[in-house]
Amino acid sequence: MKDKTVLITGATDGIGKETARHIAERGARVFVVGRNPEKGAAAVADIKEGSANQQVEFLQADLSAQAEVRKLAAALRDRTQRLDVLVNNAGAILFSRQETVDGIEMTFGLNHLSYFLLTHELLDLLKASTPARIVNVASIAHRRAVLDFSDLELKHSYGAWRAYARSKLANIMFTYGLARRLENTGVSANCLHPGFVRSHFGQNNGVLVRTALSLAMRFGNAITVAQGAETSVHLATAPAVEGRTGQYFDACQAVKSNQVSYDQAAQDRLWDISMEMVG
Ligand SMILES: NC(=O)c1ccc[n+]([C@@H]2O[C@H](COP(=O)([O-])OP(=O)(O)OC[C@H]3O[C@@H](n4cnc5c(N)ncnc54)[C@H](OP(=O)(O)O)[C@@H]3O)[C@@H](O)[C@H]2O)c1
Repeated sequence: MKDKTVLITGATDGIGKETARHIAERGARVFVVGRNPEKGAAAVADIKEGSANQQVEFLQADLSAQAEVRKLAAALRDRTQRLDVLVNNAGAILFSRQETVDGIEMTFGLNHLSYFLLTHELLDLLKASTPARIVNVASIAHRRAVLDFSDLELKHSYGAWRAYARSKLANIMFTYGLARRLENTGVSANCLHPGFVRSHFGQNNGVLVRTALSLAMRFGNAITVAQGAETSVHLATAPAVEGRTGQYFDACQAVKSNQVSYDQAAQDRLWDISMEMVG
């Protein structure tokens, strides 16, 4: 990965931070995106030390805010003229319904629209750096989801897992629609399930949820964050992935996602709605 530039969102913690460390170990210049500057500085110091690579930089953005996603893309462009790999990884589950500053349900806004908008904002850099890769971290949770286009933001029947599963289905449908649109450009788009990973996932919620999720991770055979980063690192770096696009991976293998995710009309409908929602 020497001479390659990689940007990873949600790289101040969990799977994203481990992904950043492994990619930095392989010699790439790595941009770590997070919303908290102190946590970002600490993550950069850890990643530099763990990878013996000094080319690691922090970029601050709250990815739930569209203006900040746009500012992030501009800040990256100020620092580099190339982007070989974009890893959209930042995500969360929210046990109370919240809205972003743009007035969009937070799970959909952060987990899906930030991937969608950041990718669009950085497409010119990726296209100028071919062969380039887009890696979207989704989840096996998508298997329970259907996209109800009449209430995408769950205004009427909010449930944390319902919103989360939907956002992860949206990650996969976005990846497939993007791969079709990027055919023959030299930019690939793939997505993945990282496994059930013992990270800080869910710790942004109340004490009961935090405790339940911690116990589930501890006693539910959750894998380590290093293991959870393997498929992201594989898709971002492995020569074997060159030329492969529009696929969903689990444990570094391409597997089938839920049948509904392959519906191209639904992918296009989600694409058009997402375009409108990001202005
Ligand atoms: N853990 C699992 O078992 C599992 C399973 C399947 C899929 N996933 C997916 O894996 C991805 C990473 O999750 P994780 O388990 O590593 O979770 P995590 O430990 O909670 O890390 C999440 C990362 O996302 C960042 N983030 C959250 N909200 C943000 C915002 N508004 N703006 C910018 N950054 C934000 C966090 O930054 P802060 O430090 O500022 O909070 C953190 O760096 C997610 O997309 C998740 O859906 C996880």
